[in-house]
Amino acid sequence: MSLIEEIRTRQNITKDQLVHLLTTEDEALLTRLKTTARAVADSVYGNQIFIRGLIEFTNYCKNDCYYCGIRRSNTRSDRYRLTEDQILSCCQNGYELGFRTFVLQGGEDPWYSDDKICAVVSRIRSSYPDCAVTLSIGEKSEESYQRFFDAGADRYLLRHETADETHYRKLHPEEMSLSHRKNCLRTLKRIGYQTGCGFMVGSPFQTMDSLYEDLMFILELQPEMTGIGPFIPHKDTPFADCPAGTLDRTLRLLSIIRLLHPHVLLPATTALGTIHPLGREMGIQAGANVVMPNLSPTDVRGKYLLYDNKICTGDEAAECRCCMQRRMEGIGYEIVTDRGDFR
Ligand code: SAM
Ligand code: FES
Repeated sequence: MSLIEEIRTRQNITKDQLVHLLTTEDEALLTRLKTTARAVADSVYGNQIFIRGLIEFTNYCKNDCYYCGIRRSNTRSDRYRLTEDQILSCCQNGYELGFRTFVLQGGEDPWYSDDKICAVVSRIRSSYPDCAVTLSIGEKSEESYQRFFDAGADRYLLRHETADETHYRKLHPEEMSLSHRKNCLRTLKRIGYQTGCGFMVGSPFQTMDSLYEDLMFILELQPEMTGIGPFIPHKDTPFADCPAGTLDRTLRLLSIIRLLHPHVLLPATTALGTIHPLGREMGIQAGANVVMPNLSPTDVRGKYLLYDNKICTGDEAAECRCCMQRRMEGIGYEIVTDRGDFR
């Protein structure tokens, strides 16, 4: 059996196989990796691409992750919060554009108390009963996660960032811990959320060993979603001078994840579109099946800057929606008006 077939049928990978796939220059093997991953995605989701409307509702954050442009120590970040009405108006705009999933993402902003989050989630839930509500607001207590779920949130994105303890310590200050982050993910799954973990490709100090840990964690958690995208430096962070993750490695990892976990909802991220003008198209062709255009109001987009040179910061939601449709149709895929649940 060939290497790719073995990984696909076993839905598992050894460290040697991972190292080989991430370092080989055998073009025929790489083409087979990509086409097999795409065929697996086609067999589950066909040529349909799911869209998620991303609403970046606050860039205040109490955390200080070394890689992130909205970390609390970045005094040059121009901070903003959207009001509940502004968030609802983004949803209305998105609904008219065919979005059936709204992703509320933000820094860990204590001003947005649990009561406030529950209030906005319930309003979206009752105004748009046919839509999914995804939260991506960081580490909270089990009680808070349960309250958000009871208020109507369906899904939760919380990238684990790295499953390697030593690596985790190099990316985060002392007060944060990998064990807490992993426990949050397990709690989210237990409550019943469609749960997403993930990591940055090429983050500083990442090694083959840490990437292998990431894949093993995905196999253990069995998340419904996995978000991976290249690390891109932000000029006002401690990692300002670190190199970005590469397009090539991100694409290889997208394909490998598709083979290991065939049904996973896998986005071609904005960061991938930032490091290459056709990054998102190539992500889909490597096995991704989700794109997440931005629904945030234009006047705040340029402020949610996790990394430098982020794309789409000057565009209206409608422009992004049309642009994404053109891009997907250009490679033979179709954006669907659908909640896009895990199958
Ligand atoms: N606060 C929430 C959390 O911690 O999950 C959600 C917001 S957080 C900014 C979203 C994701 O952005 C992180 O999980 C991280 O992987 C990614 N991110 C942060 N800085 C980045 C950078 N410099 N390059 C690429 N991705 C980055
Ligand atoms: Fe925003 Fe293309 S997705 S302009």
